[in-house]
Amino acid sequence: MCGIVGILGHKAVAGDLVDALRRLEYRGYDSAGVATVENGHLERRRAEGKLKNLEARLHNEPLQGRAGIGHTRWATHGRPTENNAHPHMNERVSVVHNGIIENFGELKKALIAKGHRFETDTDTEVVVHLIADEMQKGCDAIEATRRTLASLRGAFALAIIFAGEDDLMIAARQGSPLAIGHGKGEMYLGSDAIALAPFTDEITYLEEGDWAVLRRKGAIIFDRSGKQVERVRTKSVATSLLVDKGNHRHFMAKEIHEQPEVISHTLANYLDLAEARVSMPDLGIDPAGIRQVSISACGTAYYAGLVGKYWLERYARIPVEIDIASEFRYREPPLPANGLALFISQSGETADTLATLRYCKSQKQRVASVVNVRTSTIARESDAVLPTLAGPEIGVASTKAFTCQLSVLACLTLALGRARGTISSAQEEELVHALAEVPRHIATLLRNEPSYEKLAHDLAKAKDVLYLGRGSSYPLALEGALKLKEISYIHAEGYAAGELKHGPIALIDENVPVIVVAPEDDLFEKTLSNMQEVAARGGRIILVSDASPDRAGCELEAHVAMPKVHPFTSPLLYAVPVQLLAYHTAVFMGTDVDQPRNLAKSVTVE
Ligand code: AGP
Repeated sequence: MCGIVGILGHKAVAGDLVDALRRLEYRGYDSAGVATVENGHLERRRAEGKLKNLEARLHNEPLQGRAGIGHTRWATHGRPTENNAHPHMNERVSVVHNGIIENFGELKKALIAKGHRFETDTDTEVVVHLIADEMQKGCDAIEATRRTLASLRGAFALAIIFAGEDDLMIAARQGSPLAIGHGKGEMYLGSDAIALAPFTDEITYLEEGDWAVLRRKGAIIFDRSGKQVERVRTKSVATSLLVDKGNHRHFMAKEIHEQPEVISHTLANYLDLAEARVSMPDLGIDPAGIRQVSISACGTAYYAGLVGKYWLERYARIPVEIDIASEFRYREPPLPANGLALFISQSGETADTLATLRYCKSQKQRVASVVNVRTSTIARESDAVLPTLAGPEIGVASTKAFTCQLSVLACLTLALGRARGTISSAQEEELVHALAEVPRHIATLLRNEPSYEKLAHDLAKAKDVLYLGRGSSYPLALEGALKLKEISYIHAEGYAAGELKHGPIALIDENVPVIVVAPEDDLFEKTLSNMQEVAARGGRIILVSDASPDRAGCELEAHVAMPKVHPFTSPLLYAVPVQLLAYHTAVFMGTDVDQPRNLAKSVTVE
């Protein structure tokens, strides 16, 4: 996910632009650049790799302009080279862009036919030439931009400055978030409020399709139709939520350790713990009449949804259709009337998830979303929002957001089960108490963190790792494998334990660690036999269970002791060992834990 910043300031802005970009590093990037208006001309500095390379460039060749834009690029069209780094510009226009312009090929062809010469193979450069082309025809900067925006198709956010215009910046939002910051005689632009926290907490979020003309005295906002509109001006909490690692080595470690606190916050938002009752916001659909819940998400959020499927079907007796968003959106499954469509997303900006939400809306589904960013696009386009209160999640590998998503889904299950009469009042009380204990149990698990370091050293030597689980532990096996592979780069697969004999057991030998996620529930015995099949072939078993190790009936390489909890809440607890195993393996291997290679925090392109 790229990062965009812009400043109309009183003094040279290049240094502040880089500071703002640094606060967007968590989004993942592989090049960066800034451009300013200086004595009427556009000046630019760009660099491959991390911001320190751009800072070195600016130290050697400073910029003095008081109006400028900056960008951190996560490569989509075109390799992560300096030449493809933003801003893109010609002598009249400079542009930074987040997202994808889907029709850039046809636009580029038409511009080349008119004699435009392109320097890069990015989609962004098309915007520079389109605006310049309109200005060539006599349009001023604002009209030229308006016309250009009308010709673009795709999901993007843009910030644009112009030669000879020291007090003008134009912003556009279509699919990727953009926030305007209001200063004292200065104006700012950022992909989110965290970028602007050092300058202001007065924030206006552009709505889908909005574009805005910024000058130091303020911003004029237009909607997609070109009508001037007012947007809500909010006080951002990003300033107080200014994120840092605290006393942890990585954001991921900090976020794993925040889980007791943020799960408590999230549960408290939906449970009346004093009365041991669930209290959910009105979804705007009669729970008793819901014929199907359709769940769609990506990555870790999808695995949370998979746990939700087990819960909703078992406790609320609702049929659940679930698929990863990149498949759901193109399958276009027929959906029943009275259907609830549920979307899960930490960022609330994942392109595939958003596209699936829009498909379900077109199919007259009631749309609810479980998101961590209340102001996100997915939240804004939902009929009902069930926020996770995880706070900003900076580490690319999702941890606290996952367990907060599970917390919300557990509360939703109780609410729908009560409303449909499939959960009695006594059961509600029992399950609410079980949920209320989760933060304490997780805090206990985290105190045993040092025991994971030894396990991680052994895991780090593996080339392939298998994770097994059954029932609501099967999605935890999938999540554990994803955590390990995305931050340690070790190949790992999660499998339903019952599937082992249907092929994957061919992988087992003494070089393959097999992590078995198996609470002592009604499926435990079944999983035991799978473990013994693995042991018989020399597989190295790491059992994560509240069962005592001597129940395994086979040799274990290790046993991760878990507290005894209600089967309903075991997925929340068992997320922690798989997170810690992945984290310590990656730390031991020396990978970039918070910003793993090739990954971005939020995939706002498909
Ligand atoms: C999580 O560890 C991954 N980095 C990734 O799979 C993530 O869960 C996925 O991209 C969905 O993101 P979202 O929750 O912001 O929609």
